[in-house]
Amino acid sequence: ETSIYQKGLKYERPPFTFHSDLWEPEAEKRMSAESKGYVIGNAGTGETARKNREAFGKWSIVPKRLVKTSSLPDLSTKVLGKEFPFPIAVAPVGVQRIFNPDGEEASAAAAAAESVPYIMSTASSTSIEDVAKAANGNGTRWFQLYWPANENDEITASLLSRAKKAGFSALFVTLDTYILGWRPSDMDNGYNPFLRSDKIGVAIGFSDPVFRKKFKEKHGVEVEEDMHNAAAEWTRTVFPLFSHGWEDIKFLKQHWDGPIILKGIQTVGDAQKCVELGLQGIVVSNHGGRQVDGGVSSLGVLPRIVDTVGGKLDIFFDSGIRAGADIAKALALGAQMVLVGRPYVYGLALGGEQGVRHVLKSLLGDLELTLHLAGVESASPKHLNRDVLEREDR
Ligand code: FNR
Repeated sequence: ETSIYQKGLKYERPPFTFHSDLWEPEAEKRMSAESKGYVIGNAGTGETARKNREAFGKWSIVPKRLVKTSSLPDLSTKVLGKEFPFPIAVAPVGVQRIFNPDGEEASAAAAAAESVPYIMSTASSTSIEDVAKAANGNGTRWFQLYWPANENDEITASLLSRAKKAGFSALFVTLDTYILGWRPSDMDNGYNPFLRSDKIGVAIGFSDPVFRKKFKEKHGVEVEEDMHNAAAEWTRTVFPLFSHGWEDIKFLKQHWDGPIILKGIQTVGDAQKCVELGLQGIVVSNHGGRQVDGGVSSLGVLPRIVDTVGGKLDIFFDSGIRAGADIAKALALGAQMVLVGRPYVYGLALGGEQGVRHVLKSLLGDLELTLHLAGVESASPKHLNRDVLEREDR
């Protein structure tokens, strides 16, 4: 991956800057007020999102010297029983066509080209089947579920079976967004990405046979004959306004043959319940600070969760990752893989598939050099632990 660094300087000019902290301001210039508000916006005053970033500054990397390099850098990691070449995945992000007309297809193709798993959102603006085709069937695809209420179990089962057929091999269930958070930017813009007139925010629902059948039974017309109501109904289906309980997990186990990972875990108690239920993983995440304002930083809760359930299931991490050092810190604290959220969306806005590839390559190049120079043997996440970190505020 460091090849990007050397090549980038001389031969292959990237589509935009290597400065990861400039991706947001540069993308901002290209986006409509609505798209900008949606991706950059946070819950409430933005306190949780701020804390997500500040938490990384509390840990510092302490480089070791004369760690003899005996093999080539190896960023691989093991999750869900398999080896992956890199310890990052593309986080589920909805309605990507609002950032670039190529939307999810560009991001999925970029992820496959960079050998990074792509997690597809239930709120995608492209159907499950089309995203699967985008990478010519290549790459690792995981499906993220926004979980309909029990009365719509038939729709949930349909989504899961479509995802399975389309080659999605793991299920990420997002638990923190049964209702959208208090998001002042979207409210000021009067904007709901799922209720746009072009209906791209409801692509998965409108292409779902069970949702279509139920809509027709209830309203006597096809989805296309009453688009406005159908979009509102799909939105209520995937953001049902109330939460499931732990007892409902068994339904998912019955209908999904493969690993199940719960996304949005922030407490030790919840992580322990996932172990008790025999789930394969958790994503320690606060949705990038977009759901609960005044919340705890996601990195802040990671060490406690690792101390309690580490080794018993796979621990994924997200919320606030912006550079290679951030990835290094989350891995050193015990995550096996991190999810990259907003940075690749900025890449998509700035340069479509090539833009997403540039973001992923930059983050990995940066990570590799950081681990190497920190004295981590083979720059390997497997040789990484808390010894490489020091708390600055102790
Ligand atoms: C998200 N996220 C998200 N999560 C999810 O499970 N399903 C989804 O559809 C979406 N949609 C979405 C849209 C946008 C515009 C953003 C920014 C985020 C949350 C996402 O998966 C991830 O948890 C956060 O983005 C991580 O935080 P950072 O990296 O953005 O700070």
